[in-house]
Amino acid sequence: MSAVVVIGTQWGDEGKGKIVDYLAEKADVVVRYQGGNNAGHTVIVGGNEFKLHLLPSGILYNDKTCVIGNGVVIDPAVLIKEIENMQEKGIDTSNLRISNRAHVIMPYHRLLDAVEEEYRGDFKIGTTKRGIGPCYMDKNARSGIRIVDLLDEEEFSAKLERNLEAKNHLLKAVYNEEGFDFEAVKAEYLGYAEKLRPYVRDTSAVLYQAIGEGQKVLFEGAQATLLDLDHGTYPYVTSSHPIAGGACIGAGIGPSKISKVIGVVKAYTTRVGEGPFPTELLDETGEMIRKEGHEFGTTTGRPRRCGWLDACVVRYAGYVSGIDYMAITRLDILDKLKTLKICVGYKYKGEIINEFPASLKVLAEVEPVYEELTGWETDISGVRSYDELPVNARKYVERLSEVTGIQIGIVSVGPRRDQTIIIHEVF
Ligand code: IMP
Repeated sequence: MSAVVVIGTQWGDEGKGKIVDYLAEKADVVVRYQGGNNAGHTVIVGGNEFKLHLLPSGILYNDKTCVIGNGVVIDPAVLIKEIENMQEKGIDTSNLRISNRAHVIMPYHRLLDAVEEEYRGDFKIGTTKRGIGPCYMDKNARSGIRIVDLLDEEEFSAKLERNLEAKNHLLKAVYNEEGFDFEAVKAEYLGYAEKLRPYVRDTSAVLYQAIGEGQKVLFEGAQATLLDLDHGTYPYVTSSHPIAGGACIGAGIGPSKISKVIGVVKAYTTRVGEGPFPTELLDETGEMIRKEGHEFGTTTGRPRRCGWLDACVVRYAGYVSGIDYMAITRLDILDKLKTLKICVGYKYKGEIINEFPASLKVLAEVEPVYEELTGWETDISGVRSYDELPVNARKYVERLSEVTGIQIGIVSVGPRRDQTIIIHEVF
């Protein structure tokens, strides 16, 4: 049995897309289990750049089954556009399976995401404004519309009518916004339903069968540990569960079926949106990392906040997800630095604290305890084996492994598939 979960250990944008794409080559099935088109993966194959928001990275291989699980929230217009874009580039999408239990992002979710953010003022979360949070809110309020409902005109019309009554009232009374027209939304969404219908399945059953047959299944997390609704830096989080356990709920598989968990760690730290970030660099080093790493959001284009590698974050991610191996990405971005710092602990009011703070007030006030390491000042993008890495690059990643207690499984030295050093195979 091999079912591998790949998750982000930091605040997202660790380069999971590249690691998933690499592992997908060996997998039979690739699964998305949470989030929606707030995620953005860039994968480079054969000189072509592909930006994926909803489709699992495995879509780029014609022979893989790709699953969008029940835990994902789907904006049908976005998904259809992504499917059509792939088809235009000659990529076969017939192996896509969409969960009948996934929830649908409606136009009022997108508008509510925008107006609620505005309403929060200084307390804004910095969401991607894709309607993700409001869609999960309806799911939890038990008023959401699922794919199975969308495919049934009668059921969809009834749910849409009830939802629009409530949302239009909320939009007008609280936010002074025009509501949505029932007939227009209904016609638009029923059009989407027909385009999506051929792909819709009970994906939990699809996965149960695949795992039972001994197929290799890869679960790709979107966002990351510190954006997890329960375990992240709440409230500056997304509304789903990017940690490894999220795969069980968001794909409908049992925890006993997961064989390995890979945590993707970017060799430095970035974050988009608001919230405390202890190792943030607001100086020219931060600027240099942003420039070298092209650290601008795939989904929103926003400049990402950059900082030193924070081993406290990675250690925390390690235990909330039971990470077996780390995949360290973008090590090459640090090639030019003379010295590097790793945060190995937090001091709060003069005392070392061992746990990752739940209180954002504490997290905002902690003082990072840094260790300074000498840089390698060599271009490592052509290195293909671990032993060929400069000794200082090895010291850097090995120190991270020591502090976090997690073994190194993969080191990535560039965006291409071949720029990947494998230390431990997982499939
Ligand atoms: P939402 O997911 O759009 O509700 O945004 C909530 C928070 O998660 C914001 O801070 C976003 O910037 C962040 N976020 C959502 N998706 C991603 C992602 O794929 N990478 C990094 N940050 C993300």
